[in-house]
Amino acid sequence: MLFCKTNLFFASFAGFIGSVWLNDDVGAGRPCLQRQIPDQSVVCVCSPAYCDDLVRDTPTPDKYVMYTSSEAGMRFVKTTHAFKTNENDSKRDQDNIVLTLDPSIKYQTVLGFGGAVTDAASINWKNLTDPGLMQKLIDSYFSKSGLQYNMLRVPIGGCDFSTHPYAYNEIPENDPALSNYSLAYEDHHFKIPMIKEIMKVASDPVYIVASTWSPPPWMKTNRVYANVSQLKPEYYQTYAEYFLKFVEQYANEGIKIWGITTTNEPLNGMFGIANFNSLGWAPLNLGRWIANHLGPTIRNSAFRDLKIISHDDQRATVPFYINMMLRAISEASQYIDGFGVHYYTDLFVSAEVFSLVTENYPDKFILATESCEGSFPWQKEKVVLGSWDRAKAYAVDIIDDLNQNVVGWIDWNLCLNAQGGPNWARNFVDSAIIVFPESKEFVKQPMYYALSHFSKFLPRGSRRIKVTERKPLWSSRVTNVAFQTPKNTVVVILHNEDLATNVSIEIGQKKITVPVPNRSIVTIEMLNVG
Ligand SMILES: *[C@@H]1O[C@H](CO)[C@@H](O)[C@H](O)[C@H]1NC(C)=O
Ligand SMILES: *[C@@H]1O[C@H](CO)[C@@H](O)[C@H](O)[C@H]1NC(C)=O
Ligand SMILES: *[C@@H]1O[C@H](CO)[C@@H](O)[C@H](O)[C@H]1NC(C)=O
Ligand SMILES: *[C@@H]1O[C@H](CO)[C@@H](O)[C@H](O)[C@H]1NC(C)=O
Ligand SMILES: *[C@@H]1O[C@H](CO)[C@@H](O)[C@H](O)[C@H]1NC(C)=O
Ligand SMILES: *[C@@H]1O[C@H](CO)[C@@H](O)[C@H](O)[C@H]1NC(C)=O
Repeated sequence: MLFCKTNLFFASFAGFIGSVWLNDDVGAGRPCLQRQIPDQSVVCVCSPAYCDDLVRDTPTPDKYVMYTSSEAGMRFVKTTHAFKTNENDSKRDQDNIVLTLDPSIKYQTVLGFGGAVTDAASINWKNLTDPGLMQKLIDSYFSKSGLQYNMLRVPIGGCDFSTHPYAYNEIPENDPALSNYSLAYEDHHFKIPMIKEIMKVASDPVYIVASTWSPPPWMKTNRVYANVSQLKPEYYQTYAEYFLKFVEQYANEGIKIWGITTTNEPLNGMFGIANFNSLGWAPLNLGRWIANHLGPTIRNSAFRDLKIISHDDQRATVPFYINMMLRAISEASQYIDGFGVHYYTDLFVSAEVFSLVTENYPDKFILATESCEGSFPWQKEKVVLGSWDRAKAYAVDIIDDLNQNVVGWIDWNLCLNAQGGPNWARNFVDSAIIVFPESKEFVKQPMYYALSHFSKFLPRGSRRIKVTERKPLWSSRVTNVAFQTPKNTVVVILHNEDLATNVSIEIGQKKITVPVPNRSIVTIEMLNVG
């Protein structure tokens, strides 16, 4: 029990006093209530009585705002600084990394950031039982005092993060009319109530991506939920209608689905990689199904604007799978709006591989649809409270993705329990929020703060801008990405994997030099003066 030996103390308020707050419409923000985890960094504890807020200030023409989180325990610590006039530090510069921003050169437009309302996430949320605490969890992700998420992923039926495998219309079997299609207990009692609370607090429309893991077993060659299977050809049209019925039924509940993926991780079911709900798709079969069934069914329906997102599988398999599918079945391409990519090979393959597809299909977006830590076989501990290594892994991944034109990043389960579940297939993993219903609290992991440095500053419509980097001979490993937001501010995000350093940022005639602590993530926001 990790919690036995921990200390409870308030964060240092040092960063919060002594600064002058500017245009601060939500208040200065309550700091993280830190709990030090032995041999790890800190988690921030939320109870019915207290939860930290993340408040983003509007920069003014003469000031910029900086936010820092670090392994040493800073969590979204905000400071405001005046631009220095006539700063002559050309000498000091020689020791610094210098980033020159050029907002006139723009790249992809951001769609959003979010997480997944799985059965597990919504069961854990409801299991907190205290209405105030449940509200704090929703606010932590979606409100102005939280990450300001504006995307969600929702499973169509069950997935491994359910208490049991299930699909809609399990009976009657061999029923191409889907005569008994109705939402499940989990939709009515867990997922829909959570999504409705989310929609109440989000300030942007929440773009919801819905994915199937497995259809009812009677549509499949192996007649069970997991292992190696394909769709029986006689049910190709039925499976397309299975998606449409879900979108209709959620619309009837007042929930608009924005996009669908063409089946979660289709390679799992080809090679029997997963012992949980899956459906295998060889690239050519998937292409044929999209071209002849899913695409026409959606585009001829009342939901013709739904985004159709294909792949929804690992980064490493993007070039071979998509190029093979669309070269052979080019008619599928007209129906596909973008490609979903998952996290679990990212350690081995750079996001540069996306260009092997986007150069062939420049009109289609790449969206990160699922990511989590703790899933690798060598990660024996599935939930590691306070792990900065996992925050670092998220920051590395998001910066790599964004610099390769990815338009958004959706985390996996919004919250899990201390075991990393529930998960009927025992495929437990970590999450940015872990719930402790027994002690009426939840904790925000370092991963949550890693996400905050991106999601909170990059609203939908932000455009990535060009950064030119000059490095001294020896420097800390600092990666970066920069954006111009719809409110004409410039946002620079820095991740330092290494020792403390200073980074200089030039934009137009302005130049600032900011301290970037040992193992930290820093976001800087200023008005666009370029
Ligand atoms: C870097 O940070 C880690 C923990 O955050 C600390 O243990 C280490 O001493 C720091 N190193 C330096 C050189 O500051
Ligand atoms: C800045 O410093 C450099 C060398 O230290 C000097 O040559 C230059 O004139 C200075 N510029 C201003 C504007 O003071
Ligand atoms: C329809 O499905 C429900 C379970 O969702 C089941 O109880 C019922 O028997 C099914 N009806 C038919 C006609 O198969
Ligand atoms: C998957 O296959 C394994 C080994 O053949 C079997 O033990 C397991 O029950 C199967 N899982 C499901 C959900 O059918
Ligand atoms: C819900 O919370 C109770 C304690 O309040 C706990 O015993 C139970 O395991 C929790 N359920 C899940 C699915 O984590
Ligand atoms: C960063 O710059 C400040 C001010 O010049 C200096 O005191 C500090 O030592 C520098 N830090 C590093 C890590 O170089």
